[in-house]
Formats: sequence, C-alpha cells, structure tokens
Amino acid sequence: MIDYERVEHLVRQAGQMIRDAHVTGEQVHTKRNRADFVTDYDLRVQQYLIDNLKPLVPEAVFYGEEDTVGNDGRNSEEGFCFYLDPIDGTTNFVFGYHHSCTSVGIGLDGRIIAGFVYNPYNHEMYRAVRGQGAFLNDRRLWVENRELQEGILAFNGPVNRDNEGPFFEILRILYGETYTIRSSGSAALDLCRVASGGNVAYVQDQLSPYDYAAASVIVEEAGGVITQVDGSPVSLESNCSVVAGAPLAYERTREIVLSILNKK
Ligand code: IPD
Ligand code: CA
Ligand code: CA
Repeated sequence: MIDYERVEHLVRQAGQMIRDAHVTGEQVHTKRNRADFVTDYDLRVQQYLIDNLKPLVPEAVFYGEEDTVGNDGRNSEEGFCFYLDPIDGTTNFVFGYHHSCTSVGIGLDGRIIAGFVYNPYNHEMYRAVRGQGAFLNDRRLWVENRELQEGILAFNGPVNRDNEGPFFEILRILYGETYTIRSSGSAALDLCRVASGGNVAYVQDQLSPYDYAAASVIVEEAGGVITQVDGSPVSLESNCSVVAGAPLAYERTREIVLSILNKK
C-alpha cells in the first residue's frame, strides 16, 4: 500500500520549487527543436521526486521526462511505475506565465491507480485514487455531461512543426462548434480542467505518457472519458494522441477529428 499522503506532500513540495524558481537565460536549454525547452529546474525537480519517492516503493520503475539519476525512462507492465512530469508547461515556466504544474501518476501492473497534479501558482491540487473519486483540493469532482457546444475546448498545437497535417483544419471545425478554444501550454492542467468542468473537452495529436498518466485517472474518476483518437486506451508505453471530455463532448470531438482524418 502506497502512502498517498506522502506522495501528495512531495508533489506539493516539487510544485513549490517551481513557484520559488528564478529562471535565468543560462538555465534554459533546448531539446528536440528550438521551441522545446528544458531548464535546470526540470532536472532538479525530477531528481527531488525520484530521490523521495524511491524510498516509498523501492522496487518501483520511474518513467520520467528528463534524463536524471534513477530515471528508467520507460514504463513497467508489472509492479509499480511512477510517471513523472516535473514541470508540465515548461515554456510557460520559462516565460513567467505562472501556469505550470508537477504531475505524478502511479501505475500498478500496467494500469494507472492514482494521480496527483499540482499547480503551485494557485495552489490547486488535483488528485485521484482509482475507485475513490477525483478531487480538486477538498472538492469532489463530477463531470457534467455537456455537449461540445456547451463549453470550452482545450487543445495544444501539433507536435511536429514540419508536418502539421490536418491539425488546424480539425481545430477550425471544432472552434465552430464550441463557445471558444484555449491552449494553456500545460496538457496535464488542461486535462484536469476537463475533470473540474473548466474544459468540456481536450484534444492533442500527440502526448507522452508522463504528460497524461496522472490526469487520466483524475478525468476518469470524475466521470469523464480519455482515450486515443481511435478510441483505444491511452498508451502507458509511448506517445499517442489524446482526446478527453465529458462523455457527449468527447464523442463529438472524436467524431469530428476522425471525419477529417478519414477524408485524407
Ligand atoms: C508540454 C505541454 C504542452 C503540450 C506539449 C508537452 P512540457 O509538456 O504539456 O501543453 O502541448 O506537447 O510536451 O514540455 O511542458 O512538459
Ligand atoms: Ca509535459
Ligand atoms: Ca515537462
């Protein structure tokens, strides 16, 4: 049995490290392309999480985003696995947007059993343990089953800048069906807002398991749906597309995305 209170405390501490940070130019580096940032804080926060989570479950595997000591960089189909995104919303972090979070998902035998997503700028802690409901701080979350037309759709831009594919065409149609659209720069927080009702749906062409592992159980425990665009479960092994939402809005979003993809 994992000490979830301790995990929550550590996620809060990690978030505090983000909030207290003073990012300078020499602490910012690029990864796959000029718009893909990593900072010294991403590494420091992930190291803090691994060093402090490891004693709780010594046999656990760590699937973290960053290259730090103790990170296995993969999931495990057996036993415990921690999915770590030390800073989700690094671009926001670099530019002082104050909209980023720390995300920790816990998997057991290839299934996410708990998730913690903390935004240190407004002290919002989203958490869920499978079978025990989802919460935003002390408030139990229930997704109201709204249509796509009855809310805000969140999205994040196409991952491959050299080949956007039909992404913006899809977005144009989705935009026409919703009240409006938002791109917050943090997939984990966008997904958590599906759970808390801020977003009626969310879509992105590609995310990594550490982006959505924690939020996936939060969405599901609140009564929302999250899958890949083709309707299959989100992968805990490698990158995949993600659609989430209140059941009705989720269905309509997927329908629109598929209709355009199938036209190509
Ligand atoms: C990114 C954010 C962003 C999403 C990107 C992710 P990072 O994570 O979640 O919203 O569009 O695909 O990579 O790099 O800030 O941890
Ligand atoms: Ca991320
Ligand atoms: Ca990150």
